[in-house]
Amino acid sequence: MAARAGVITSRPTVKRQVWKDLAAHYKKIEDLHLRQLFADDPTRGTRLTAEAVGLYLDYSKNRITDETLQLLIQLAEESHLQDRIDAMFRGDKINLTEKRAVLHTALRAPRDASVFVDGKNVVPEVHAVLDRMADFSNRVRSGEWKGHTGKRIRNVINVGIGGSDLGPVMAYEALKHYSDRNMTFRFVSNIDGTDFAEAVRDLDPSETLFIISSKTFTTLETMTNAHTAREWSLAGLGGDEKSIAKHFVAVSTNAAEVTKFGIDTSNMFEFWDWVGGRYSMDSAIGLSTMVAIGPENFRAMLHGFHQMDEHFRTTPFQQNLPVLMGLLSIWYNDFFGAQTVAVLPYEQYLKRFPAYLQQLTMESNGKHVTLDGKTVRHDTGPIYWGEPGTNGQHSFYQLIHQGTRLIPCDFIAFSKALNPLGRHHDMLIANVCAQTEALAFGKTAEQVAAEGTPKWLVPHRVFEGNRPSNTILAEQLTPETLGKLVALYEHSVFTQGVIWNIDSFDQWGVELGKVLAQRIIPELESKTEPPLAHDSSTNNLITYYRKSKQ
Ligand code: F6P
Repeated sequence: MAARAGVITSRPTVKRQVWKDLAAHYKKIEDLHLRQLFADDPTRGTRLTAEAVGLYLDYSKNRITDETLQLLIQLAEESHLQDRIDAMFRGDKINLTEKRAVLHTALRAPRDASVFVDGKNVVPEVHAVLDRMADFSNRVRSGEWKGHTGKRIRNVINVGIGGSDLGPVMAYEALKHYSDRNMTFRFVSNIDGTDFAEAVRDLDPSETLFIISSKTFTTLETMTNAHTAREWSLAGLGGDEKSIAKHFVAVSTNAAEVTKFGIDTSNMFEFWDWVGGRYSMDSAIGLSTMVAIGPENFRAMLHGFHQMDEHFRTTPFQQNLPVLMGLLSIWYNDFFGAQTVAVLPYEQYLKRFPAYLQQLTMESNGKHVTLDGKTVRHDTGPIYWGEPGTNGQHSFYQLIHQGTRLIPCDFIAFSKALNPLGRHHDMLIANVCAQTEALAFGKTAEQVAAEGTPKWLVPHRVFEGNRPSNTILAEQLTPETLGKLVALYEHSVFTQGVIWNIDSFDQWGVELGKVLAQRIIPELESKTEPPLAHDSSTNNLITYYRKSKQ
């Protein structure tokens, strides 16, 4: 009964029989302990696992039974998840509120694939841009691309924010091992001038290239930083406007604004409105990544994405990694009332992965209305957060182990270290296993007492356990593996959005603050006392700031 493309049903999710069955089932098993589940089924640890495209998912330490899984899969089926997956891959305009196709999957489609948007195959354009990016990257990396004074480029600064920053930063950090160590890569995003000042303070403008990355080329932060970069570069290069062509390139969907800024469109790398900002790291937005790791590695990353895309598109839900992870997230979010998911990569290079996931998950699924504009009757988008292990263990794990909140965790680890040093890697992985074991099984009062703990101290040393986790294992962090991992979360987010029947691809929630800031800027900058018509708190803060900045 789709009134508009993509709206499969307008029946509130909570009113569906399968949702009610899940709610009843939750009541039955909410107190069931993982100790019991493992004791009852010695094969659980091998049975509740799935492996695909080189990623191994152990989801046995979740508070689920076979019946839970069967009901969750039924929920996915009755939510027409497969139809929605097909619609996305086909290029249907599933981003209803912006009337756009959602085709980040086309960015990693092989050269001979066909994906149609409004009757046009977009794959040739995707590869044409990738080829231009590769040519440019090779020229910068080899030193053939010279700066205005004839020096080679040694520093690359990506200027962008949100999806035009978080993906590039995360990928650069994640793949640093594969990057050209003779070059410096920095990322400027914040409107806070400190971000720009610190990024350039030790750099020579004649060796510095700016990549201005913005889908719209109108974003306040990016355009302000881009203009500051222009001034800095010109000042360091004798004010010759011709130098811009050698030190600035743009990545955008908006050729008109790029030209207005003063960047020749021959130095512009294009992408398209069917690529959402937070899904754009493998479009031209990844240009800094490609310069850092080289075109071959970049293509390997795209191949990783594509393998996970194909897995997601074609695999039965029971073995489908993103579907399983998405459903588990629904289970904790909507039935256990868990507010958050902790993502804990045991890989130092993935230190920015949780920050990247925050935009991917929360900008996508932080929605309060369904596709047909009705208020949702269940919680949507959980809060994603995390830090790499083992650092987090000495910080917030206390709360995960013994606090009063339920925090489902995703542990991510690799069998082979990129920097094998003595016993470090075995110790790292021992900690992954130990943490998930401790979270699941805990330590009873009897066990604590049996260790000779004084009675008064016993309650403090008890670990309740029954704290759920997924463990995701891969062989090694490579460009290809990173692609698989990111696509895993992208499609898990999609799965959740489909079940909640929300638009995972718009982001109206960021608009109001942007508009209000535009109104307040002149009030802060005005030489004379501006008439203020905000609420009394906002008026007061503006007045206080104006006085104290004198
Ligand atoms: O914060 C909202 C947002 O639109 C994000 O979705 C996007 O990634 C970011 O701003 C940057 O936008 P742009 O690439 O157009 O500068």
